[in-house]
Amino acid sequence: MAGKVLEIQNLYSGYGKLKVLFDINISVEEGSITVVVGPNGAGKTTLLNTIAGLTTVYSGSIKFQGREIVGLSPHNIAKMGISYLLQMRNIASNLTVRDNLILGGYLLPDDLIEERMQEVINLFPQLKGFMDRKAGTLSGGERRMLAIAMTLMRSPKLLLLDEMSTDLAPILVKMMMNKIIELRDRLDLTILLVEQNAKQALEIGDYSYLLVSGEIRYEGDPKKLLKHPEFSQLYLGIKR
Ligand SMILES: Nc1ncnc2c1ncn2[C@@H]1O[C@H](COP(=O)(O)OP(=O)(O)OP(=O)(O)O)[C@@H](O)[C@H]1O
Ligand SMILES: [Mg+2]
Repeated sequence: MAGKVLEIQNLYSGYGKLKVLFDINISVEEGSITVVVGPNGAGKTTLLNTIAGLTTVYSGSIKFQGREIVGLSPHNIAKMGISYLLQMRNIASNLTVRDNLILGGYLLPDDLIEERMQEVINLFPQLKGFMDRKAGTLSGGERRMLAIAMTLMRSPKLLLLDEMSTDLAPILVKMMMNKIIELRDRLDLTILLVEQNAKQALEIGDYSYLLVSGEIRYEGDPKKLLKHPEFSQLYLGIKR
């Protein structure tokens, strides 16, 4: 039986006095793609911010590979093997693709950076010819691939992805989702994906949670959630 990479129990968190998440219980199996969907403002980004150590935790526990991480600094959480791709992408447009990748590997010893860059770039063949181009000249889809590539530079164990498909044409969304599956399969990766664009994300998920107004309203098989007769009502948080 695969173990749990991440286990969140009875978590309440927010920003200072603003409480956003209420009694969250989530567990992420090793090697899974776990998907959290929910409407705008539900608290999806806050959930990832909390795992990354960027919010106020009022109570509850977050265990990463069995170790409590609540209270650790974002830097230490990253060093333990959690890589976070923010909803606001962290690409530097004025730098080349190569220099962005080097930035992504900022905690690596110099002699490992080049080797790791080659490994990462092999996963993104479409970036291979662009190493010396400014990142700002890449297309929307290419920039998103670069952003993911950067998060992989430090060989994370757990990847937190926020809104990978927003603003992309449907064909690129499909490509993006296929890439996420490929990364999970080829690397020793576990992925926690949050998306407002529920359908496409649920199609690639192994397990899913629905977050509405800071609370988990459903958990289980993503395909069942998609087929749930009250999915749209659940999704919008409408109570009957
Ligand atoms: N840095 C912050 N400081 C204070 N409040 C914040 C901060 N970020 C988000 N919030 C508030 O927390 C609540 C949840 O926001 P959050 O960004 O987690 O939602 P979301 O589900 O990611 O929404 P979206 O689908 O629009 O990205 C909102 O009321 C928002 O205004
Ligand atoms: Mg968000």
